Amino acid sequence: MARASESWSSSFGFVLAAAGSAVGLGNLWGFAYRASQGGGGAFVLLYVVIVLVVCLPVLVAEMVLGRSTSHAPLIAPITAGGRRWAPLGLLFLVAALGILAFYAVLMGWTGRTLLHALLVGLPADMAASEAFFGLISSGGGAVLGLLVSLALTGVVVAAGVRGGIERLSRWGMPALFVLLLGLLIWAAFLPGAGAGYHQFLLRWDAAKLLEPTTIRNAFTQAFFSIGTGIGAILAYAAYLNRRSGLPAEALSVVGMDTAVGLMAGCVTFPLVASFGLGDVVSGSTVGTLFIALPTGLASIGLAGRLVAVLFFGLAYIAAITSSVSLLEVPVSSLVDGLGWRRREAVWTCVALVAVLGLPPALSTGALEVMDALFGGVLLILGGLLIALLLSWQAPARFLSDLQGCGTPPALRSALLFSLRWISVPAIAVGLSVSVLDLAKMWFG
Ligand code: PHE
Repeated sequence: MARASESWSSSFGFVLAAAGSAVGLGNLWGFAYRASQGGGGAFVLLYVVIVLVVCLPVLVAEMVLGRSTSHAPLIAPITAGGRRWAPLGLLFLVAALGILAFYAVLMGWTGRTLLHALLVGLPADMAASEAFFGLISSGGGAVLGLLVSLALTGVVVAAGVRGGIERLSRWGMPALFVLLLGLLIWAAFLPGAGAGYHQFLLRWDAAKLLEPTTIRNAFTQAFFSIGTGIGAILAYAAYLNRRSGLPAEALSVVGMDTAVGLMAGCVTFPLVASFGLGDVVSGSTVGTLFIALPTGLASIGLAGRLVAVLFFGLAYIAAITSSVSLLEVPVSSLVDGLGWRRREAVWTCVALVAVLGLPPALSTGALEVMDALFGGVLLILGGLLIALLLSWQAPARFLSDLQGCGTPPALRSALLFSLRWISVPAIAVGLSVSVLDLAKMWFG
């Protein structure tokens, strides 16, 4: 099995693409959605701690798994741990396809809202906004959004690692930061800004720290937002040279991702508070922000329309730099494992995901279930297995890859130690709490 001769143009290109994969709708929409389900400051604190203490070492491990094997997600676990690790490769594939299926539906909603704000305008009131959301989130409208988003993702991935994915991230990521910074400053001057920060981000209630739903939301948000656990970063790291310093690169990815998550919260929550939409968002469903934000922005006229265009535009850029990494998981696996040509692999996977995307396109209930299962449970499980593989089954591979790129000995041991004794047990607890919480919600 020979790896196709693809590579990043530089370590910086890899970091941008990896940050592009991490920063996505999860930061903009997922963070707001989960934070508003309750938990306030406790949710934010748990999320940041899990990201830094639990996910960061797993992210390094996932990068090592890709780079040290130079294989795609389907094959890399076998190369590192032997045949009995083959199910992990399959888990990566199933989870990536499942996430992409509902992610592309959300992209469709985002794209349609963007086009409407740009070409037509914003809905006049809540009822009009709900009617518009109904139109784009059900039936033919939703399927069209899904197909267009998948097609765009396919075009980028078909253009290759350097010519497609890296090129997109090189202009997309800086554009996204500039737009977000502009919106952040604008939102800080809204009349209700202080109340918004307070209501969702700063409200402190220590008891929330132990609530299963807060814990599940924090774990899910951390893993989904960093995007570690399903082989997307692994696929990218397989195209990386031996010299790039992985711990520092993982830290930049995590830093950018967390910053964007918090910044996005500091845009959406003041908006929600200053337009008096707090109650609407607290009973949050996946669609709430798509309804609440345009309605609120409509009330301030042309400026609001401009902000809507910028916000949904930046969301679409963030989303496509993530969806390409999800598609790269099965595509690189077909290329690497079965010797397919990239283009064939891309369009076959796109066709498959278009079918898998029908249930979430046609029912938001199905979308929420897929989000919880693929984007929550399977992703966290994948993270746990990556941590186990590199800390207990193949620690020598982990250490020698890090040595090869010049990581100081103390940092290497510290990373291995935290992978073994912090990440593994913490993820095991987080996963159990999440599964029980979901079971209670669905069956209990
Ligand atoms: N991290 C992306 C987001 O926040 C989604 C994603 C999940 C990407 C898993 C890759 C792997 O939107």
